[in-house]
Amino acid sequence: MTEKIIILDFGSQVTQLIGRRLRELNVYCEIYPYNKVPELDSTVKGIILSGSPFSVRDEKAPQIDLSGIKGRFPLLGICYGSQYLAHKYGGEVNASIAREYGRAILNVTNQSPLLEGIQAKTQVWMSHGDTIARLPEGGEVIASTEDVVNAAYHIKGEETYAVQFHPEVYHTDEGTKMLSNFALGICGCKGDWTPDSFVDSTISELKAKLGDDKVILGLSGGVDSTVAGVLLNRAVGHNLTCIFVNNGLLRKNEFEDVLDSYKDMGLNVIGADASEEFLTELAGVTDPEKKRKIIGRLFVETFDKYAKTIENAKWLGQGTIYPDVIESASVNGPSSTIKSHHNVGGLPKEMNMKVVEPLRSLFKDEVRRVGRALGIKDELLNRHPFPGPSLGIRILGDITKEKLAVLREADDIFIKALKSYRLEGNIEAIKALAGKDAASVRSASDPTREAATLYEAIWQAGVILLPVQSVGVMGDERTYENTVALRAVISTDGMTADWVHLPYDFMAKVSNDIINKVRGVNRVVYDISSKPPATIEWE
Ligand code: XMP
Repeated sequence: MTEKIIILDFGSQVTQLIGRRLRELNVYCEIYPYNKVPELDSTVKGIILSGSPFSVRDEKAPQIDLSGIKGRFPLLGICYGSQYLAHKYGGEVNASIAREYGRAILNVTNQSPLLEGIQAKTQVWMSHGDTIARLPEGGEVIASTEDVVNAAYHIKGEETYAVQFHPEVYHTDEGTKMLSNFALGICGCKGDWTPDSFVDSTISELKAKLGDDKVILGLSGGVDSTVAGVLLNRAVGHNLTCIFVNNGLLRKNEFEDVLDSYKDMGLNVIGADASEEFLTELAGVTDPEKKRKIIGRLFVETFDKYAKTIENAKWLGQGTIYPDVIESASVNGPSSTIKSHHNVGGLPKEMNMKVVEPLRSLFKDEVRRVGRALGIKDELLNRHPFPGPSLGIRILGDITKEKLAVLREADDIFIKALKSYRLEGNIEAIKALAGKDAASVRSASDPTREAATLYEAIWQAGVILLPVQSVGVMGDERTYENTVALRAVISTDGMTADWVHLPYDFMAKVSNDIINKVRGVNRVVYDISSKPPATIEWE
């Protein structure tokens, strides 16, 4: 059984990052809401209490019974977690006069396994309004900042540690080292959870679970469903049937290209072409929410129709990943910043199938690493995310075949140009993308690697067809034609995003190519809005 650390979430925005950092240390961990503590069996090596937007002194502050945890398992309280331990076990927490937010210098004052190998003075990230005025019983301070005496402490005779700052955020210079001291040192985790070990154990678990049953999976051409498909294929072989729906709104040649790329992976894929149905039902519809609903419903209907042709299929495979799971189980339910469209994939209950989700425990970049371990081509793994409603929400207003044709051509020119623009040695481009002193640009899909092309440096890009016509000249004639907007953003998770400083020579060429080659477009503009307040998609 895989050893693990349990993170109990009190609602902090950065709880997921604690998980990320542990996983980077090859330590498996699971995040649970503080009020849904799982069974703590012998695979649990330690427990972490997260931060919270609450003050421990609030009436509504989240409460947890730690009697089965404190003193029995290695325990680390972070921010709220550290204040909670003080508040409950004989210490005192007050509103601090100097609210401490942002960078602070931590002075290590006492030797401790948690701070082993940490420099005597090190930068940490603080974010709290309360301060621990008196430590809990048995508490011993191990580090302080100028404003916060009890910035880190240890409870004598127990493996209980607490830090007022956030070791999980990047601004805490030696945060990962501290988490490593906790997980690998204090908890004694082996740190052997790697993509390869994940692949091996998942395939044998899937084999045991699925036996000779038939499985159906919806493929989208995206990273998650592809990796889920390959894993399931390794486990059940031809008992897996994948369905890839053409909604008539895909990019130029995308349906054929994606089907093609699955061929040499040995996957059994049905290409379900329902373009005509989609376009017929969408005709004349301008309201974006209505478009989304129609596309979502038809997707399910199409999937269902093809799924029914597979007799006796018992399982429905899904590419659900860990952030989806945490979001829907989080302290206050899915955060209000998440739109309903992120929870796509809801298939009809009457399908009466059991759901199997082999990537449920992985973060996005881990999915890619697992994909690489499975030998999936980089070309597929590095694909930009693409919205479920596809080009349907990149044509503002009603959708017609003619508009789709114009948008497809323009989008194809932009995406191909991004893929062929190499960054290597292209100092101006690198400076534009990563700042004055940068020597290279990181890949958006895998920050541990350098980006080779503009496409790889960018999180997501596409063209939007605007319902605006403007005047232009072609030869001797005035024209009155369409405007397209280019959108390219950098982001780490799609939740916030910034527009990309594309090099001018690149933009000039793309604009020229689109206007010269795509009939019906005489103006190209570039979208320089960040998210928030804008969004990535225009509809
Ligand atoms: P926004 O535009 O909200 O998009 O910044 C954030 C991310 O979600 C994708 N997106 C969608 N995905 N169905 C989906 O499956 C949708 O209706 C949808 N709308 C936006 C968008 O491409 C970006 O990755």
